[in-house]
Amino acid sequence: MMLRLMLSALLLALAGPAAAAGNIERGKQKADQVCAACHAVGGDWNKPLQPEYPRLAGQYRDYLVTTLNAYKQGEKSQIGRKNAIMAGQAAALSRQEIEDISAFLASLPGPLFTKSR
Ligand code: HEC
Repeated sequence: MMLRLMLSALLLALAGPAAAAGNIERGKQKADQVCAACHAVGGDWNKPLQPEYPRLAGQYRDYLVTTLNAYKQGEKSQIGRKNAIMAGQAAALSRQEIEDISAFLASLPGPLFTKSR
């Protein structure tokens, strides 16, 4: 227990300040520019262009980061996300832009929730 606490403290210290944290404002700018056409009709992130396009408002930040990095890595990703549209979108994003966009989308109100048991 104590060791685990010390390890997490050490890892936090190594990660440095806000190294991975996304910037919501920058994320909003980028997302409005390149992602809204398909995921936010009329700027509403709860209204994707097609019913089968995923709704992103309020999705968990870590889930968004993971999926976007998986699309970006394609075949090399351990969770293997392959989609012609999103591969191109994610390939054009830097790691920091992925963090920023994910922070923005996660900050939005949305109907997504996880069932508690
Ligand atoms: C041309 C339309 C289009 C654009 C532009 C687009 N997307 Fe997508 N997005 C899709 C489609 C279609 C899917 C579903 C892909 C699949 O089945 O894997 C998707 C899936 C996703 C997912 C996975 C969601 C989940 O629940 O698994 C994320 C995250 C995502 N998009 C984020 C983005 C971001 C961020 C941008 C802007 C950089 C963007 N998309 C731009 C069409 C688009």
